[in-house]
Amino acid sequence: MSEQIDPILKKEVERRRTFGIISHPDAGKTTLTEKLLLYGGAIQMAGTVKSRKANRHATSDWMAMEQERGISVTTSVMKFNYKDYEVNLLDTPGHQDFSEDTYRVLTAVDSALMVIDCAKGVEVQTKKLMEVCRMRDTPIITFINKMDREGVDPFDLLQDIEDTLHIECAPLSWPIGMGADFKGTYNIHKGELHLFSAIHGGAIQKGEIIKDLSSSRLDELLGDQADQLRDELELLEGAGYPFDKERYLAGKQTPVFFGSAINNFGVQEMLDSFVELAPHPRPRATTTREVSPFESDFSAVAFKIQANMDPAHRDRIAFVRICSGQFKRGMKVRHHRIGKEVQIANATIFMAQDRTGVEEAWPGDIIGIHNHGTIKIGDTFTSTKEELKFTGIPNFAPEHFRRVILRNPLKSKQLNKGLHQLAEEGAVQLFKPLGNNDNILGAVGLLQFDVIMSRLKDEYSVDALYEPVEYHTARWICSDDAKQIDGIKKRYPRFVALDGDGNLTFLAPSQWRLQQAEEEWPKIDFNKTREHE
Ligand code: G4P
Repeated sequence: MSEQIDPILKKEVERRRTFGIISHPDAGKTTLTEKLLLYGGAIQMAGTVKSRKANRHATSDWMAMEQERGISVTTSVMKFNYKDYEVNLLDTPGHQDFSEDTYRVLTAVDSALMVIDCAKGVEVQTKKLMEVCRMRDTPIITFINKMDREGVDPFDLLQDIEDTLHIECAPLSWPIGMGADFKGTYNIHKGELHLFSAIHGGAIQKGEIIKDLSSSRLDELLGDQADQLRDELELLEGAGYPFDKERYLAGKQTPVFFGSAINNFGVQEMLDSFVELAPHPRPRATTTREVSPFESDFSAVAFKIQANMDPAHRDRIAFVRICSGQFKRGMKVRHHRIGKEVQIANATIFMAQDRTGVEEAWPGDIIGIHNHGTIKIGDTFTSTKEELKFTGIPNFAPEHFRRVILRNPLKSKQLNKGLHQLAEEGAVQLFKPLGNNDNILGAVGLLQFDVIMSRLKDEYSVDALYEPVEYHTARWICSDDAKQIDGIKKRYPRFVALDGDGNLTFLAPSQWRLQQAEEEWPKIDFNKTREHE
Protein backbone atom coordinates (compact mmCIF):
# COMPACT_ATOMS: atom_id res chain seq x y z
CA MET A 1 0.00 0.00 0.00
CA SER A 2 1.41 3.41 -0.83
CA GLU A 3 1.99 5.83 2.00
CA GLN A 4 1.80 9.10 0.11
CA ILE A 5 -1.29 10.03 -1.80
CA ASP A 6 -0.60 10.93 -5.39
CA PRO A 7 -1.97 14.48 -5.90
CA ILE A 8 -3.48 13.69 -9.31
CA LEU A 9 -5.19 10.60 -7.96
CA LYS A 10 -6.44 12.61 -5.00
CA LYS A 11 -7.95 15.24 -7.25
CA GLU A 12 -9.57 12.66 -9.53
CA VAL A 13 -11.09 10.76 -6.61
CA GLU A 14 -12.38 13.88 -4.90
CA ARG A 15 -14.17 15.16 -7.97
CA ARG A 16 -15.99 11.92 -8.69
CA ARG A 17 -19.58 11.17 -7.72
CA THR A 18 -20.96 7.72 -8.49
CA PHE A 19 -24.64 7.31 -7.74
CA GLY A 20 -27.87 5.57 -8.65
CA ILE A 21 -31.48 6.69 -8.63
CA ILE A 22 -34.00 4.77 -6.58
CA SER A 23 -37.67 5.23 -7.28
CA HIS A 24 -40.91 3.50 -7.97
CA PRO A 25 -41.95 3.26 -11.65
CA ASP A 26 -43.48 6.49 -12.95
CA ALA A 27 -42.13 8.70 -10.19
CA GLY A 28 -40.09 10.52 -12.86
CA LYS A 29 -36.68 8.88 -12.83
CA THR A 30 -36.26 8.97 -16.61
CA THR A 31 -37.39 12.58 -16.82
CA LEU A 32 -35.04 13.59 -14.04
CA THR A 33 -32.13 11.64 -15.54
CA GLU A 34 -32.66 13.47 -18.78
CA LYS A 35 -32.56 16.83 -17.07
CA LEU A 36 -29.41 15.89 -15.18
CA LEU A 37 -27.76 14.90 -18.44
CA LEU A 38 -28.81 18.20 -19.99
CA TYR A 39 -27.01 20.04 -17.21
CA GLY A 40 -24.01 17.83 -17.71
CA GLY A 41 -23.97 18.67 -21.40
CA ALA A 42 -24.07 14.93 -22.08
CA ILE A 43 -27.16 15.37 -24.21
CA GLN A 44 -28.35 18.40 -26.09
CA MET A 45 -32.01 17.68 -26.46
CA ALA A 46 -34.81 16.82 -24.13
CA GLY A 47 -36.40 13.52 -25.13
CA THR A 48 -33.13 11.74 -25.75
CA VAL A 49 -33.30 9.45 -22.77
CA LYS A 50 -36.86 8.45 -23.52
CA SER A 51 -36.04 7.56 -27.09
CA ARG A 52 -32.97 5.80 -25.87
CA LYS A 53 -35.25 3.83 -23.60
CA ALA A 54 -37.18 2.70 -26.67
CA ASN A 55 -34.57 2.32 -29.42
CA ARG A 56 -31.53 1.09 -27.68
CA HIS A 57 -30.24 -2.36 -28.53
CA ALA A 58 -33.01 -2.97 -31.01
CA THR A 59 -30.72 -5.52 -32.64
CA SER A 60 -31.25 -8.34 -30.24
CA ASP A 61 -34.36 -10.38 -29.80
CA TRP A 62 -34.54 -10.45 -26.11
CA MET A 63 -34.07 -6.76 -26.09
CA ALA A 64 -37.04 -6.51 -28.43
CA MET A 65 -39.00 -7.71 -25.46
CA GLU A 66 -37.82 -4.66 -23.60
CA GLN A 67 -39.21 -2.51 -26.37
CA GLU A 68 -42.53 -4.26 -26.47
CA ARG A 69 -43.00 -3.67 -22.81
CA GLY A 70 -41.63 -0.16 -23.01
CA ILE A 71 -39.35 -0.70 -20.07
CA SER A 72 -35.69 -0.81 -19.56
CA VAL A 73 -34.44 -4.29 -18.73
CA THR A 74 -30.79 -3.51 -18.67
CA THR A 75 -28.89 -1.26 -16.39
CA SER A 76 -26.59 1.21 -17.97
CA VAL A 77 -24.05 3.74 -16.89
CA MET A 78 -24.13 7.39 -17.82
CA LYS A 79 -21.15 9.60 -17.28
CA PHE A 80 -21.19 13.37 -17.41
CA ASN A 81 -19.31 16.40 -16.15
CA TYR A 82 -20.94 19.03 -14.04
CA LYS A 83 -18.92 22.02 -12.92
CA ASP A 84 -15.69 20.50 -11.72
CA TYR A 85 -17.21 17.12 -11.03
CA GLU A 86 -17.20 13.84 -12.93
CA VAL A 87 -20.53 12.20 -12.33
CA ASN A 88 -21.28 8.53 -12.95
CA LEU A 89 -24.99 7.84 -12.94
CA LEU A 90 -25.78 4.14 -12.77
CA ASP A 91 -29.22 3.51 -14.11
CA THR A 92 -31.40 1.07 -12.22
CA PRO A 93 -34.44 -0.34 -14.00
CA GLY A 94 -37.48 1.10 -12.33
CA HIS A 95 -40.14 -1.32 -13.49
CA GLN A 96 -41.68 -3.53 -10.87
CA ASP A 97 -40.35 -6.55 -12.72
CA PHE A 98 -36.91 -5.45 -11.78
CA SER A 99 -34.09 -7.88 -11.31
CA GLU A 100 -31.14 -8.61 -9.14
CA ASP A 101 -29.15 -6.25 -11.33
CA THR A 102 -31.09 -3.41 -9.81
CA TYR A 103 -29.96 -4.48 -6.38
CA ARG A 104 -26.38 -5.14 -7.42
CA VAL A 105 -25.99 -1.77 -9.09
CA LEU A 106 -26.77 -0.19 -5.73
CA THR A 107 -23.83 -2.02 -4.22
CA ALA A 108 -21.54 -0.28 -6.74
CA VAL A 109 -22.57 3.30 -5.96
CA ASP A 110 -21.38 5.71 -3.29
CA SER A 111 -24.70 7.47 -2.88
CA ALA A 112 -28.25 7.45 -4.15
CA LEU A 113 -30.92 9.86 -5.22
CA MET A 114 -34.44 8.94 -4.21
CA VAL A 115 -37.27 10.25 -6.40
CA ILE A 116 -40.73 10.35 -4.89
CA ASP A 117 -43.98 11.28 -6.59
CA CYS A 118 -45.61 13.92 -4.38
CA ALA A 119 -49.04 12.44 -4.99
CA LYS A 120 -48.02 8.89 -4.09
CA GLY A 121 -45.49 9.19 -1.28
CA VAL A 122 -43.24 6.20 -0.58
CA GLU A 123 -44.13 3.26 -2.83
CA VAL A 124 -43.24 -0.38 -2.60
CA GLN A 125 -40.29 -0.48 -5.01
CA THR A 126 -38.64 2.46 -3.29
CA LYS A 127 -38.96 0.62 -0.03
CA LYS A 128 -37.25 -2.47 -1.42
CA LEU A 129 -34.41 -0.49 -2.96
CA MET A 130 -33.99 1.43 0.25
CA GLU A 131 -33.41 -1.85 2.09
CA VAL A 132 -30.43 -2.48 -0.18
CA CYS A 133 -29.08 1.02 0.40
CA ARG A 134 -29.36 0.41 4.11
CA MET A 135 -27.09 -2.65 3.89
CA ARG A 136 -24.22 -0.29 3.13
CA ASP A 137 -25.56 2.86 4.82
CA THR A 138 -25.61 4.55 1.43
CA PRO A 139 -26.20 8.32 1.76
CA ILE A 140 -29.44 9.36 0.07
CA ILE A 141 -30.71 12.69 -1.24
CA THR A 142 -34.46 12.93 -1.82
CA PHE A 143 -36.18 14.72 -4.67
CA ILE A 144 -39.94 15.07 -4.27
CA ASN A 145 -41.22 15.34 -7.80
CA LYS A 146 -44.33 16.51 -9.66
CA MET A 147 -45.00 19.49 -7.40
CA ASP A 148 -46.88 21.02 -10.35
CA ARG A 149 -49.59 18.46 -9.58
CA GLU A 150 -51.85 18.15 -6.58
CA GLY A 151 -50.21 15.91 -4.05
CA VAL A 152 -49.89 15.03 -0.41
CA ASP A 153 -49.15 17.85 2.06
CA PRO A 154 -45.35 18.27 2.29
CA PHE A 155 -45.32 17.74 6.06
CA ASP A 156 -47.22 14.47 5.60
CA LEU A 157 -44.80 13.42 2.84
CA LEU A 158 -41.85 13.90 5.16
CA GLN A 159 -43.65 11.99 7.88
CA ASP A 160 -44.35 9.19 5.41
CA ILE A 161 -40.67 8.96 4.44
CA GLU A 162 -39.57 8.97 8.05
CA ASP A 163 -42.12 6.36 9.16
CA THR A 164 -41.83 4.04 6.17
CA LEU A 165 -38.13 4.25 5.44
CA HIS A 166 -36.86 4.99 8.94
CA ILE A 167 -34.67 7.87 7.90
CA GLU A 168 -34.71 11.46 9.16
CA CYS A 169 -35.75 14.12 6.64
CA ALA A 170 -33.94 17.44 6.52
CA PRO A 171 -35.63 19.65 3.89
CA LEU A 172 -33.12 21.95 2.23
CA SER A 173 -35.81 23.50 0.10
CA TRP A 174 -39.47 24.07 0.83
CA PRO A 175 -42.36 24.20 -1.64
CA ILE A 176 -44.71 27.15 -1.89
CA GLY A 177 -48.09 25.60 -2.59
CA MET A 178 -48.57 22.73 -4.99
CA GLY A 179 -50.54 21.80 -8.10
CA ALA A 180 -52.24 24.83 -9.62
CA ASP A 181 -51.00 26.92 -6.67
CA PHE A 182 -47.38 25.87 -6.94
CA LYS A 183 -45.37 29.07 -6.83
CA GLY A 184 -41.87 27.71 -6.41
CA THR A 185 -39.47 26.75 -3.69
CA TYR A 186 -37.58 28.51 -0.95
CA ASN A 187 -34.03 27.26 -0.51
CA ILE A 188 -33.69 27.11 3.24
CA HIS A 189 -29.97 26.53 3.05
CA LYS A 190 -29.22 29.55 0.89
CA GLY A 191 -32.17 31.80 1.74
CA GLU A 192 -33.09 31.93 -1.93
CA LEU A 193 -36.51 32.06 -3.51
CA HIS A 194 -37.12 30.28 -6.82
CA LEU A 195 -40.29 31.20 -8.62
CA PHE A 196 -41.93 28.58 -10.75
CA SER A 197 -43.47 28.92 -14.16
CA ALA A 198 -44.49 25.89 -16.16
CA ILE A 199 -42.12 25.44 -19.07
CA HIS A 200 -41.87 21.84 -20.10
CA GLY A 201 -38.26 20.97 -20.62
CA GLY A 202 -37.36 24.60 -20.10
CA ALA A 203 -34.28 26.17 -18.62
CA ILE A 204 -33.92 26.91 -14.94
CA GLN A 205 -35.71 29.95 -13.67
CA LYS A 206 -33.44 32.26 -11.76
CA GLY A 207 -33.70 32.55 -8.03
CA GLU A 208 -33.96 35.75 -6.04
CA ILE A 209 -32.12 36.04 -2.78
CA ILE A 210 -34.39 36.95 0.10
CA LYS A 211 -32.60 36.23 3.34
CA ASP A 212 -35.03 38.13 5.51
CA LEU A 213 -38.30 36.29 5.45
CA SER A 214 -40.17 39.31 6.84
CA SER A 215 -39.21 41.30 3.75
CA SER A 216 -42.15 42.85 1.92
CA ARG A 217 -40.59 41.64 -1.33
CA LEU A 218 -41.77 38.18 -0.36
CA ASP A 219 -45.37 39.47 -0.18
CA GLU A 220 -44.95 41.24 -3.49
CA LEU A 221 -43.86 38.05 -5.17
CA LEU A 222 -46.07 35.52 -3.41
CA GLY A 223 -49.16 37.43 -2.32
CA ASP A 224 -51.19 35.45 0.21
CA GLN A 225 -48.82 32.54 0.01
CA ALA A 226 -46.01 34.58 1.61
CA ASP A 227 -47.55 34.22 5.06
CA GLN A 228 -48.21 30.57 4.49
CA LEU A 229 -44.52 30.07 3.64
CA ARG A 230 -43.48 31.98 6.76
CA ASP A 231 -45.75 29.84 8.94
CA GLU A 232 -44.58 26.61 7.41
CA LEU A 233 -40.91 27.47 7.72
CA GLU A 234 -41.46 28.36 11.35
CA LEU A 235 -43.22 25.07 11.93
CA LEU A 236 -40.41 23.26 10.19
CA GLU A 237 -37.83 24.91 12.36
CA GLY A 238 -39.59 23.60 15.42
CA ALA A 239 -40.48 20.16 14.14
CA GLY A 240 -37.97 19.23 11.46
CA TYR A 241 -34.42 17.95 11.63
CA PRO A 242 -31.70 20.50 10.90
CA PHE A 243 -29.39 19.33 8.16
CA ASP A 244 -26.42 17.38 9.53
CA LYS A 245 -23.83 16.34 6.96
CA GLU A 246 -22.42 13.58 9.14
CA ARG A 247 -25.83 12.01 9.55
CA TYR A 248 -26.44 12.25 5.82
CA LEU A 249 -23.10 10.56 5.07
CA ALA A 250 -23.94 7.85 7.60
CA GLY A 251 -27.22 7.13 5.78
CA LYS A 252 -29.29 8.26 8.76
CA GLN A 253 -30.65 11.50 7.36
CA THR A 254 -31.79 12.51 3.91
CA PRO A 255 -31.69 16.10 2.63
CA VAL A 256 -34.96 16.78 0.81
CA PHE A 257 -35.64 18.90 -2.28
CA PHE A 258 -38.93 19.64 -3.99
CA GLY A 259 -39.44 20.28 -7.66
CA SER A 260 -40.89 19.29 -10.97
CA ALA A 261 -38.57 17.31 -13.21
CA ILE A 262 -40.66 17.74 -16.32
CA ASN A 263 -40.56 21.51 -15.92
CA ASN A 264 -36.89 21.38 -15.06
CA PHE A 265 -37.73 23.08 -11.82
CA GLY A 266 -35.67 22.42 -8.71
CA VAL A 267 -33.36 20.08 -10.61
CA GLN A 268 -30.31 22.30 -10.78
CA GLU A 269 -30.83 23.37 -7.19
CA MET A 270 -30.74 19.72 -6.19
CA LEU A 271 -27.81 18.90 -8.51
CA ASP A 272 -25.75 21.76 -7.08
CA SER A 273 -26.23 20.45 -3.58
CA PHE A 274 -25.77 16.87 -4.71
CA VAL A 275 -22.27 17.39 -6.12
CA GLU A 276 -21.31 19.38 -3.04
CA LEU A 277 -22.70 17.02 -0.43
CA ALA A 278 -22.54 13.54 -1.93
CA PRO A 279 -19.46 11.55 -1.02
CA HIS A 280 -16.61 10.88 -3.41
CA PRO A 281 -15.67 7.21 -3.90
CA ARG A 282 -15.49 5.58 -0.50
CA PRO A 283 -13.23 2.83 0.81
CA ARG A 284 -14.46 -0.66 -0.02
CA ALA A 285 -14.27 -3.80 2.04
CA THR A 286 -12.38 -6.93 1.06
CA THR A 287 -12.15 -10.20 2.95
CA THR A 288 -8.85 -9.04 4.44
CA ARG A 289 -8.89 -5.23 4.70
CA GLU A 290 -10.46 -2.01 3.52
CA VAL A 291 -9.16 -0.58 0.26
CA SER A 292 -8.97 3.19 0.09
CA PRO A 293 -9.64 4.84 -3.28
CA PHE A 294 -6.50 6.89 -2.71
CA GLU A 295 -4.22 3.86 -2.89
CA SER A 296 -2.17 4.20 -6.03
CA ASP A 297 -2.31 0.47 -6.80
CA PHE A 298 -5.17 -0.30 -9.11
CA SER A 299 -8.06 -2.45 -7.88
CA ALA A 300 -11.54 -3.08 -9.24
CA VAL A 301 -14.55 -5.35 -8.81
CA ALA A 302 -17.09 -6.74 -11.30
CA PHE A 303 -20.68 -6.10 -10.18
CA LYS A 304 -22.69 -6.91 -13.26
CA ILE A 305 -22.37 -9.09 -16.33
CA GLN A 306 -24.40 -8.38 -19.39
CA ALA A 307 -24.73 -10.47 -22.51
CA ASN A 308 -23.69 -8.67 -25.63
CA MET A 309 -26.57 -6.87 -27.27
CA ASP A 310 -25.47 -8.19 -30.61
CA PRO A 311 -26.41 -11.86 -30.98
CA ALA A 312 -23.67 -12.31 -33.60
CA HIS A 313 -21.16 -11.91 -30.81
CA ARG A 314 -21.39 -14.33 -27.97
CA ASP A 315 -19.22 -12.28 -25.68
CA ARG A 316 -20.37 -10.55 -22.55
CA ILE A 317 -19.60 -7.26 -20.95
CA ALA A 318 -18.51 -7.20 -17.36
CA PHE A 319 -19.27 -3.92 -15.60
CA VAL A 320 -16.33 -3.23 -13.37
CA ARG A 321 -16.09 -0.54 -10.75
CA ILE A 322 -12.66 0.90 -10.11
CA CYS A 323 -11.99 0.95 -6.39
CA SER A 324 -8.46 2.37 -6.19
CA GLY A 325 -5.62 3.67 -8.34
CA GLN A 326 -5.60 4.60 -11.99
CA PHE A 327 -6.75 2.43 -14.86
CA LYS A 328 -4.78 2.73 -18.08
CA ARG A 329 -5.70 1.17 -21.37
CA GLY A 330 -3.88 -2.08 -22.05
CA MET A 331 -2.81 -2.51 -18.46
CA LYS A 332 -2.13 -5.96 -17.08
CA VAL A 333 -4.06 -6.92 -14.00
CA ARG A 334 -4.39 -9.96 -11.83
CA HIS A 335 -7.70 -11.77 -12.11
CA HIS A 336 -7.86 -13.17 -8.61
CA ARG A 337 -10.44 -15.92 -8.88
CA ILE A 338 -8.66 -17.65 -11.71
CA GLY A 339 -5.22 -16.62 -10.44
CA LYS A 340 -4.00 -15.29 -13.78
CA GLU A 341 -2.69 -12.08 -15.17
CA VAL A 342 -4.92 -10.62 -17.88
CA GLN A 343 -4.53 -7.66 -20.15
CA ILE A 344 -7.43 -5.24 -20.38
CA ALA A 345 -7.09 -3.95 -23.89
CA ASN A 346 -10.63 -3.24 -24.89
CA ALA A 347 -12.30 -1.60 -21.95
CA THR A 348 -15.26 0.60 -22.69
CA ILE A 349 -16.39 3.60 -20.79
CA PHE A 350 -20.07 4.37 -20.84
CA MET A 351 -21.10 7.83 -21.85
CA ALA A 352 -24.70 8.95 -21.92
CA GLN A 353 -25.10 8.31 -25.64
CA ASP A 354 -22.12 6.33 -26.77
CA ARG A 355 -19.54 3.92 -25.65
CA THR A 356 -16.01 4.99 -26.21
CA GLY A 357 -12.73 3.23 -25.78
CA VAL A 358 -11.23 4.19 -22.48
CA GLU A 359 -7.66 5.43 -22.14
CA GLU A 360 -7.72 6.04 -18.43
CA ALA A 361 -10.21 5.85 -15.60
CA TRP A 362 -10.23 6.51 -11.87
CA PRO A 363 -11.88 5.24 -8.70
CA GLY A 364 -15.65 5.50 -8.94
CA ASP A 365 -15.61 5.09 -12.73
CA ILE A 366 -17.23 2.08 -14.33
CA ILE A 367 -15.53 0.36 -17.21
CA GLY A 368 -16.96 -2.37 -19.39
CA ILE A 369 -14.73 -5.32 -20.23
CA HIS A 370 -15.57 -7.72 -23.04
CA ASN A 371 -15.00 -11.33 -22.17
CA HIS A 372 -16.16 -14.82 -23.05
CA GLY A 373 -17.41 -15.96 -19.71
CA THR A 374 -14.15 -15.63 -17.79
CA ILE A 375 -15.49 -12.90 -15.53
CA LYS A 376 -18.07 -13.57 -12.85
CA ILE A 377 -19.90 -11.19 -10.58
CA GLY A 378 -17.76 -10.33 -7.57
CA ASP A 379 -14.44 -10.94 -9.36
CA THR A 380 -11.57 -8.79 -8.15
CA PHE A 381 -8.81 -7.31 -10.33
CA THR A 382 -5.63 -5.68 -9.05
CA SER A 383 -2.33 -4.40 -10.33
CA THR A 384 -0.46 -6.06 -7.47
CA LYS A 385 -0.10 -9.63 -6.30
CA GLU A 386 -1.68 -9.02 -2.90
CA GLU A 387 -4.54 -11.46 -2.38
CA LEU A 388 -7.69 -9.36 -2.41
CA LYS A 389 -11.35 -10.23 -2.67
CA PHE A 390 -13.89 -7.44 -2.59
CA THR A 391 -17.05 -8.18 -0.66
CA GLY A 392 -20.46 -6.58 -0.58
CA ILE A 393 -21.82 -7.68 -3.97
CA PRO A 394 -24.27 -10.32 -2.85
CA ASN A 395 -26.82 -12.65 -4.33
CA PHE A 396 -30.28 -11.72 -3.13
CA ALA A 397 -32.89 -14.25 -2.03
CA PRO A 398 -35.18 -14.85 -4.99
CA GLU A 399 -38.87 -14.19 -4.58
CA HIS A 400 -40.14 -16.09 -7.63
CA PHE A 401 -39.47 -19.65 -8.72
CA ARG A 402 -40.07 -21.79 -11.80
CA ARG A 403 -39.26 -25.36 -12.78
CA VAL A 404 -37.68 -25.63 -16.23
CA ILE A 405 -38.99 -28.45 -18.39
CA LEU A 406 -37.23 -29.37 -21.59
CA ARG A 407 -39.46 -30.02 -24.58
CA ASN A 408 -36.77 -31.94 -26.44
CA PRO A 409 -34.95 -34.31 -24.05
CA LEU A 410 -32.00 -34.60 -26.44
CA LYS A 411 -31.06 -31.04 -25.64
CA SER A 412 -30.42 -31.56 -21.96
CA LYS A 413 -26.70 -30.87 -22.34
CA GLN A 414 -27.40 -27.49 -23.96
CA LEU A 415 -29.99 -26.72 -21.32
CA ASN A 416 -27.51 -27.39 -18.53
CA LYS A 417 -24.85 -25.31 -20.20
CA GLY A 418 -27.26 -22.46 -20.83
CA LEU A 419 -28.64 -22.46 -17.31
CA HIS A 420 -25.19 -22.59 -15.77
CA GLN A 421 -23.86 -19.77 -17.91
CA LEU A 422 -26.90 -17.59 -17.38
CA ALA A 423 -26.76 -18.21 -13.65
CA GLU A 424 -23.07 -17.38 -13.63
CA GLU A 425 -23.82 -14.16 -15.42
CA GLY A 426 -26.25 -13.36 -12.62
CA ALA A 427 -29.26 -13.24 -14.94
CA VAL A 428 -31.07 -15.80 -12.78
CA GLN A 429 -30.32 -18.20 -9.93
CA LEU A 430 -30.28 -21.94 -10.45
CA PHE A 431 -31.17 -24.45 -7.76
CA LYS A 432 -30.97 -28.25 -7.78
CA PRO A 433 -33.02 -29.86 -5.01
CA LEU A 434 -31.16 -32.73 -3.33
CA GLY A 435 -34.09 -35.09 -3.68
CA ASN A 436 -34.77 -34.92 -7.43
CA ASN A 437 -33.34 -33.82 -10.77
CA ASP A 438 -35.33 -30.62 -11.12
CA ASN A 439 -33.87 -27.43 -12.49
CA ILE A 440 -35.40 -24.70 -10.38
CA LEU A 441 -34.88 -21.09 -11.38
CA GLY A 442 -35.15 -18.34 -8.82
CA ALA A 443 -35.45 -14.65 -9.60
CA VAL A 444 -36.00 -11.41 -7.77
CA GLY A 445 -38.17 -10.05 -10.60
CA LEU A 446 -40.59 -12.04 -12.77
CA LEU A 447 -39.35 -10.52 -15.99
CA GLN A 448 -36.06 -12.36 -15.54
CA PHE A 449 -37.86 -15.60 -16.45
CA ASP A 450 -38.98 -14.26 -19.84
CA VAL A 451 -35.50 -13.03 -20.57
CA ILE A 452 -34.01 -16.42 -19.67
CA MET A 453 -36.45 -18.37 -21.83
CA SER A 454 -35.86 -16.13 -24.76
CA ARG A 455 -32.09 -16.33 -24.37
CA LEU A 456 -32.14 -20.12 -23.95
CA LYS A 457 -33.87 -20.29 -27.30
CA ASP A 458 -31.72 -17.72 -29.12
CA GLU A 459 -28.32 -18.47 -27.72
CA TYR A 460 -28.49 -22.17 -26.83
CA SER A 461 -31.23 -23.42 -29.21
CA VAL A 462 -33.10 -24.88 -26.28
CA ASP A 463 -36.85 -25.20 -26.42
CA ALA A 464 -38.16 -25.32 -22.88
CA LEU A 465 -41.11 -24.26 -20.81
CA TYR A 466 -41.80 -23.30 -17.22
CA GLU A 467 -43.92 -24.99 -14.64
CA PRO A 468 -45.03 -23.32 -11.44
CA VAL A 469 -43.46 -24.63 -8.26
CA GLU A 470 -44.47 -24.49 -4.62
CA TYR A 471 -41.45 -22.51 -3.41
CA HIS A 472 -42.05 -19.14 -1.88
CA THR A 473 -38.69 -17.86 -0.72
CA ALA A 474 -35.08 -19.00 -0.39
CA ARG A 475 -32.45 -18.79 2.34
CA TRP A 476 -28.82 -19.81 2.12
CA ILE A 477 -28.08 -22.13 5.01
CA CYS A 478 -24.88 -22.83 6.88
CA SER A 479 -23.91 -24.09 10.29
CA ASP A 480 -20.94 -25.31 12.30
CA ASP A 481 -23.16 -28.09 13.47
CA ALA A 482 -23.00 -30.81 10.79
CA LYS A 483 -25.71 -32.78 12.57
CA GLN A 484 -28.25 -30.02 12.12
CA ILE A 485 -27.38 -29.67 8.44
CA ASP A 486 -27.77 -33.44 8.03
CA GLY A 487 -31.07 -33.24 9.84
CA ILE A 488 -32.57 -30.62 7.57
CA LYS A 489 -31.25 -32.39 4.46
CA LYS A 490 -32.88 -35.64 5.49
CA ARG A 491 -36.13 -34.07 6.56
CA TYR A 492 -36.60 -31.89 3.48
CA PRO A 493 -34.82 -33.36 0.43
CA ARG A 494 -37.22 -31.43 -1.80
CA PHE A 495 -36.66 -28.12 -0.06
CA VAL A 496 -32.92 -28.28 0.44
CA ALA A 497 -31.09 -27.53 -2.80
CA LEU A 498 -27.67 -26.64 -4.14
CA ASP A 499 -27.34 -23.29 -5.86
CA GLY A 500 -25.19 -22.65 -8.96
CA ASP A 501 -22.05 -22.38 -6.83
CA GLY A 502 -22.79 -25.50 -4.81
CA ASN A 503 -24.08 -23.73 -1.70
CA LEU A 504 -26.86 -25.23 0.36
CA THR A 505 -30.14 -23.40 0.12
CA PHE A 506 -33.48 -23.88 1.83
CA LEU A 507 -36.32 -23.34 -0.63
CA ALA A 508 -39.26 -22.68 1.63
CA PRO A 509 -42.80 -23.26 0.42
CA SER A 510 -44.13 -20.63 2.82
CA GLN A 511 -43.05 -18.05 5.34
CA TRP A 512 -44.54 -20.24 8.00
CA ARG A 513 -42.48 -23.27 6.96
CA LEU A 514 -39.35 -21.15 6.95
CA GLN A 515 -40.06 -19.98 10.47
CA GLN A 516 -40.72 -23.52 11.58
CA ALA A 517 -37.39 -24.70 10.13
CA GLU A 518 -35.56 -21.82 11.83
CA GLU A 519 -37.06 -22.87 15.14
CA GLU A 520 -36.38 -26.55 14.61
CA TRP A 521 -32.70 -26.04 13.68
CA PRO A 522 -31.56 -23.09 15.80
CA LYS A 523 -27.90 -23.68 15.02
CA ILE A 524 -28.41 -23.16 11.31
CA ASP A 525 -28.10 -19.64 9.88
CA PHE A 526 -30.75 -18.84 7.30
CA ASN A 527 -29.32 -16.01 5.20
CA LYS A 528 -31.24 -13.68 2.89
CA THR A 529 -28.15 -12.75 0.90
CA ARG A 530 -25.01 -14.58 -0.09
CA GLU A 531 -21.70 -13.16 -1.20
CA HIS A 532 -20.42 -14.21 -4.59
CA GLU A 533 -17.64 -16.74 -4.34
P1 G4P B 1 -39.96 6.67 -14.48
O1 G4P B 1 -38.72 6.71 -15.30
O2 G4P B 1 -39.70 6.86 -13.01
O3 G4P B 1 -40.84 5.51 -14.74
O4 G4P B 1 -40.83 7.95 -14.81
P2 G4P B 1 -40.84 8.90 -16.10
O5 G4P B 1 -39.74 9.87 -16.04
O6 G4P B 1 -41.01 8.08 -17.32
O7 G4P B 1 -42.15 9.72 -15.76
C1 G4P B 1 -43.42 9.12 -15.58
C2 G4P B 1 -44.52 10.09 -16.01
O8 G4P B 1 -44.51 11.22 -15.15
C3 G4P B 1 -44.31 10.63 -17.41
O9 G4P B 1 -45.58 10.85 -17.98
C4 G4P B 1 -43.65 11.97 -17.15
O10 G4P B 1 -43.84 12.89 -18.20
C5 G4P B 1 -44.35 12.40 -15.90
N1 G4P B 1 -43.59 13.36 -15.10
C6 G4P B 1 -42.28 13.32 -14.76
N2 G4P B 1 -41.95 14.39 -14.01
C7 G4P B 1 -43.07 15.13 -13.87
C8 G4P B 1 -43.37 16.37 -13.21
O11 G4P B 1 -42.54 17.02 -12.62
N3 G4P B 1 -44.64 16.80 -13.30
C9 G4P B 1 -45.62 16.13 -13.97
N4 G4P B 1 -46.84 16.64 -13.99
N5 G4P B 1 -45.37 14.96 -14.60
C10 G4P B 1 -44.11 14.48 -14.56
P3 G4P B 1 -46.20 9.88 -19.03
O12 G4P B 1 -47.50 10.46 -19.44
O13 G4P B 1 -46.20 8.49 -18.48
O14 G4P B 1 -45.15 9.87 -20.19
P4 G4P B 1 -44.91 10.98 -21.29
O15 G4P B 1 -45.99 10.76 -22.28
O16 G4P B 1 -45.00 12.32 -20.63
O17 G4P B 1 -43.55 10.67 -21.79
